[in-house]
Amino acid sequence: MANKGAIGVFDSGYGGLTVLKEIVNMLPAYDYLYLGDNARAPYGPRSFATVYEYTLECVKWFFDQGCPLVILACNTASAKALRTIQQNDLEKIDPTKRVLGVIRPTTEIIGNITTTKHIGILGTAGTIQSNSYPIEIEKFYPDVKVYQEACPMWVPLVENNEHNMHGADYFVKRHIDNIMDQSPQIDTLLLACTHYPLLIDKIRHFVPSNIQIVSQGQIVAKSLANYLERHPEIDQNLSKNGQIGFFTTDSAEDFDDHASIFFGKPIKSTHLAL
Ligand code: DGL
Repeated sequence: MANKGAIGVFDSGYGGLTVLKEIVNMLPAYDYLYLGDNARAPYGPRSFATVYEYTLECVKWFFDQGCPLVILACNTASAKALRTIQQNDLEKIDPTKRVLGVIRPTTEIIGNITTTKHIGILGTAGTIQSNSYPIEIEKFYPDVKVYQEACPMWVPLVENNEHNMHGADYFVKRHIDNIMDQSPQIDTLLLACTHYPLLIDKIRHFVPSNIQIVSQGQIVAKSLANYLERHPEIDQNLSKNGQIGFFTTDSAEDFDDHASIFFGKPIKSTHLAL
């Protein structure tokens, strides 16, 4: 019988911790390995080829650690690398492994949240330019109208721990105004970047109170729980000792200082040289 392994959770930096937190809340028995590619974050402004190259390198690292399943808890990597990895690479590397993203679970349910059928998507430049959200939402909810806004400064604000500072207000307000100006009918704003929940207080401040703000953590956690129920052949390869290991490609000290804000608990990480 194959050795059992942890669920890998990946992000360009800290953002995926907002997803891991919800996954661990929902599925505490499993083991997890988290990798933040902080040394090369942000991924948002990078090309398809670069995001794909970095993401694949990290996915291979998870596989080398024995992870049977990896979640790309990063919209940018899900938009720019997931499909190629699923369709081309897995077959060559190991067809028994699985890699899942955050866009599909979100687009599957987002049409049930809006009443006006007008949704605003806030994401990195990479996620917005890829058009992944309008394309995927159209498949599930053809009657939903999607508006998009790239917020290129939001990830750097969060990665640099500047998200609670007054300076952040300017960039938050500017992008909220831009998206709300696109249609008065928008009733739902999706935070389509796993870093953005850290900005939620500021976002709320600038968004009219009748607009719902949706983060992805719980959506992805529910979808994973459902996936594991439907795929016992994957579930049986997952180890369940309730352990979590944290890795970062940048300084472990910096990661530990900052990461607990995202995860809600103290974190002790290990530096990984890729
Ligand atoms: N958390 C990543 C996402 O969900 C951030 C991307 C970046 O590094 O720019 O898109």
